[in-house]
Amino acid sequence: MDFGISGKRALVLGASRGLGAAIAAGLAAEGVTVLAAARSIDAMAQGDRIGPLKVDLADVASVAALIETVKAEGGVDILVNNGGGPVPGSALGQSAQGWSTAFSSMAVALFTITDGLIGGMIEAGWGRVITIGSSGIAQPIPNLAISNGVRSAVSGWSKTLAGEVARHGVTVNMILPGRIDTDRVRSLDASRAERTGISVADVQSSSRTEIPAGRYGTPEEFAAVATFLASRQASYITGSAIRVDGGMIKGL
Ligand SMILES: NC(=O)c1ccc[n+]([C@@H]2O[C@H](COP(=O)([O-])OP(=O)(O)OC[C@H]3O[C@@H](n4cnc5c(N)ncnc54)[C@H](OP(=O)(O)O)[C@@H]3O)[C@@H](O)[C@H]2O)c1
Repeated sequence: MDFGISGKRALVLGASRGLGAAIAAGLAAEGVTVLAAARSIDAMAQGDRIGPLKVDLADVASVAALIETVKAEGGVDILVNNGGGPVPGSALGQSAQGWSTAFSSMAVALFTITDGLIGGMIEAGWGRVITIGSSGIAQPIPNLAISNGVRSAVSGWSKTLAGEVARHGVTVNMILPGRIDTDRVRSLDASRAERTGISVADVQSSSRTEIPAGRYGTPEEFAAVATFLASRQASYITGSAIRVDGGMIKGL
C-alpha cells in the first residue's frame, strides 16, 4: 500500500534507540525525510533519509534551539513526540522537584515543540502530530507514578489540541505502548527484579503471562502503527489514543 507520504518531512524525538529509532526508520522507508533528535546522536542509525539533530528535552534552551533549527529548515509535516521515561517510584513520597522536572521534560517540552512547529502544518493544510504515551494512561502501572501522572496530562493536552486543529487537516493522536522490547523495558524489568529479589527471567515470564499475546512487542510492530497514523489514509483519525499492547490492558 502506498501511504502517500513520500517526500514529506518529519521530526522524530527520542530517535536514538527503541521506539523512536524504529519510527524514524519506518517513516524513512516510506520516503519521508526524517530529522531524528536525541541527546546522543553519534551512534544514531543514519541513512539517506535520516539526519541526526541534537536536543535535550530537559533543557529549555536546547528545546528552543531545536524549534528554530527545524523552522529554519522549512518546518515539518509530521511530528513524533517521544522521549525518555521517568525513574520508577510510588505515588507516595515523590518530591515537588521530582514532579516538576519530569513534567518539564516529558510534557512541557513536547507541548512547546508542537506549538512551535504546528503553525507550518496549519498553513499547509496537512499535518500529523503523533505522541508516544504509555498503557499507564489507560490502566495506571504500579510503581510508575510519575509516568502515569505526567502522561495522563499529556493525554489531556493531545485530545484538546486535536479538536483545535482538525479543520486544518492536522491530525493529533497518541500511541500507547504496552511492553515493547526496548532498552527502557529491559531496564524496568531489571529494576523490578532487584526490588522484588527475583531473577530478570522470572520477571519477564511473569510479565508475559499478563499479555494475552504471550510476548513483548517488537519496536517494528509499534512503529508500523505510527507510520499508518502518519499516512494519507489516516486522515480521519484524530483525538485518538491507540493501544499497541498485545491485549495487555484489561479495560475496554
Ligand atoms: N517500550 C515500551 O514498551 C514502553 C511502554 C510504555 C511507555 N514507554 C515510553 O515510550 C517512550 C519511548 O520508549 P523506549 O522504550 O523507546 O525508551 P528508550 O529505549 O529509553 O528510548 C528513549 C529515547 O528518548 C531519548 N531521550 C531520553 N531522554 C531524553 C532527553 N532528555 N532529551 C532528548 N531525548 C531523550 C533517548 O535518547 P538519548 O538518551 O540519546 O537522549 C532515546 O532515544 C519512553 O518515554 C517510555 O517511557 C515505552
